[in-house]
Amino acid sequence: MTNPSLLILPGDGIGPEVMAEVRKIIDWFGAKRGLAFDVSEDLVGGCAYDKHGTPLHDDTMAKAQEVDAVLLGAVGGPQYDNLDFSVKPERGLLRLRKEMDLFSNLRPAQCFDALSDFSSLKKDVVAGLDIMIVRELTSGVYFGEPRGIFKEGNERVGINTQRYTESEIARVARSAFDLAMKRGKKLCSMEKANVMESGILWREVVTEVSKEYPEVELSHMYADAGAMQLTRWPKQFDVIVTDNLFGDLLSDLAAMLTGSLGMLPSASLGAPMANGRPKALYEPVHGSAPDIAGQGKANPIACILSFAMALRYSFDQGEDAARLEAAIEKVLADGLRTADLMGPEGGTPVSTSGMGDAILAALDASL
Ligand code: IPM
Ligand code: MG
Repeated sequence: MTNPSLLILPGDGIGPEVMAEVRKIIDWFGAKRGLAFDVSEDLVGGCAYDKHGTPLHDDTMAKAQEVDAVLLGAVGGPQYDNLDFSVKPERGLLRLRKEMDLFSNLRPAQCFDALSDFSSLKKDVVAGLDIMIVRELTSGVYFGEPRGIFKEGNERVGINTQRYTESEIARVARSAFDLAMKRGKKLCSMEKANVMESGILWREVVTEVSKEYPEVELSHMYADAGAMQLTRWPKQFDVIVTDNLFGDLLSDLAAMLTGSLGMLPSASLGAPMANGRPKALYEPVHGSAPDIAGQGKANPIACILSFAMALRYSFDQGEDAARLEAAIEKVLADGLRTADLMGPEGGTPVSTSGMGDAILAALDASL
């Protein structure tokens, strides 16, 4: 039997540093748990542009379509700000999402006990928080046509189009209901049905799909009220399903409830491939953080937790995913802190690789 294949795209900024720690973790699972992967590495984002003049080479795109899962670090940096829109680093990521048809983006916001003091909200509001945002990822205003900057009379007009088909809404809704069935059987759908036709259709289709899931308690919220409720009392939610743009905003908000963007992983899933595994890309929610790149300050946990999600959702290794998550919880409980986690209560400062090594040691201790 051949090993499952992973394509690693470290990307820009802190991407390569945090991914180096993930490589250590992947090797550990190969050596100690018999979970060997065939790993290949390639370029995405600004570094791909520097080499090929495009943020995602066609060969890389083709590889991404073939592997069992893609792991991505982060893309972007100030040196690319003035590039033409079509070759900006982010276009590489958006092309991967679109061409792999990764319509269901899972963004958990989980508050680690050791960090519950770290949130900007009161401890009792966030302690024990464990919610999942399911963001539609391949449609909506990110991709809708017409789009562009056009001349209208003697001024310019910028246009983007929010567009959703019934089937696009239904498939992401199903993935959210499926998750809700495995969790707390509660789903809240967020849109702006009060002002947007696409929101009206969203609400109708989600309601229709809910008939297939009579056990799941479905509620609807306007996305602005949802943002308010997420900060007021986030624990009222279990799974949230929403569109591409609202999901972008709400998932940053939810991430920060937990104290640090450096902690949050994500999975972007598509339809099952011939081998039954979903098309999948895993990446941290945080960006490339160019201001701290190359200094050993980055927190590798979000990227490592993204690999844990790969173990769970692509490779059916829920137990080993939990082992990795527990190892991370252990090092946090022991007080180890990368710079982003260094709050007033202090802790033991560690570098990016120091954090990776500590997680490896906790994994060893778990055997
Ligand atoms: C995200 C990011 C991306 C998005 C950017 C980098 C294109 O903010 O994954 O949330 O807007 O989707
Ligand atoms: Mg975002």
